[in-house]
Amino acid sequence: MNLSPKQTIGIFDSGAGGLTVAAAVKNLLPNEKIIYFGDTAHLPYGDKSKETVKNYSIRITDFLLEKQCKIILIACNTASAAAYEAVKEKAGENAIVINVIDPATEFVAQNSDFKKVGVIGTKGTISSGTYTKKIKLFNDNIDVVSLQTPLLVPMIEEGFIYDNISNAIIKEYLSNEKLNGIDGLILACTHYPIIKNQIRKFYNFKTTVIDSSVVTAKKLKEVLIQHKLLNTENHIPEHEFFVSDYTDFFETLAEMFFDDKVNLQKKYL
Ligand code: DGL
Repeated sequence: MNLSPKQTIGIFDSGAGGLTVAAAVKNLLPNEKIIYFGDTAHLPYGDKSKETVKNYSIRITDFLLEKQCKIILIACNTASAAAYEAVKEKAGENAIVINVIDPATEFVAQNSDFKKVGVIGTKGTISSGTYTKKIKLFNDNIDVVSLQTPLLVPMIEEGFIYDNISNAIIKEYLSNEKLNGIDGLILACTHYPIIKNQIRKFYNFKTTVIDSSVVTAKKLKEVLIQHKLLNTENHIPEHEFFVSDYTDFFETLAEMFFDDKVNLQKKYL
């Protein structure tokens, strides 16, 4: 691959959820310029077919390749489960592709504290069985139980966060007997870190809640070092944010994670 450290990091998600990953990348790698694409016109991906999610992901990959990104980070679990191989094939020698599932599953599989782990995510992610397969591949001794929690994304997108409605929905899902006795819970959706503390509170802070944004940012740093692609310039990069449709939620979240006024551009793909 003929890539250079000065090229940018392309990150995409169905919407604003991937901003949790982008924020972790910005905090860990402040010299790297990020180009973020939120496919808000097609959100949610979670209840769409694999083919559809793949098609959307390929279009976004084309866009990020045009923007000369050295990395394409799929900051969406649903797209990571449905389209990782297709995105890698599309990117070929032109960019390195990273997903959000591998870093989290490797982290869990390598940690001997976990005997029984729960996974919560969208219908697409959970029905793909990707988390269970990948954890078991590394460590067959861990019991993995997974649960579809499809109301959480619309709940968060509608701003029901840290209130009675979200408490009731979270309680209903996490009280499912499948999840009894887990010592770790993977947030297998990039929207869920937004309600991470609410989830930790449900468990009285006694169960480890694994947020893929932090482990994914660490993985990205390792990959950049390994390929000699880390940007060491002393500068403050101007990140770019694209959405396929404007939403208030995206703008609010982007400003929250990226501190300042975010210059949002509309690009329908
Ligand atoms: N952020 C997406 C994920 O990680 C979920 C949102 C959606 O359903 O589009 O799976």
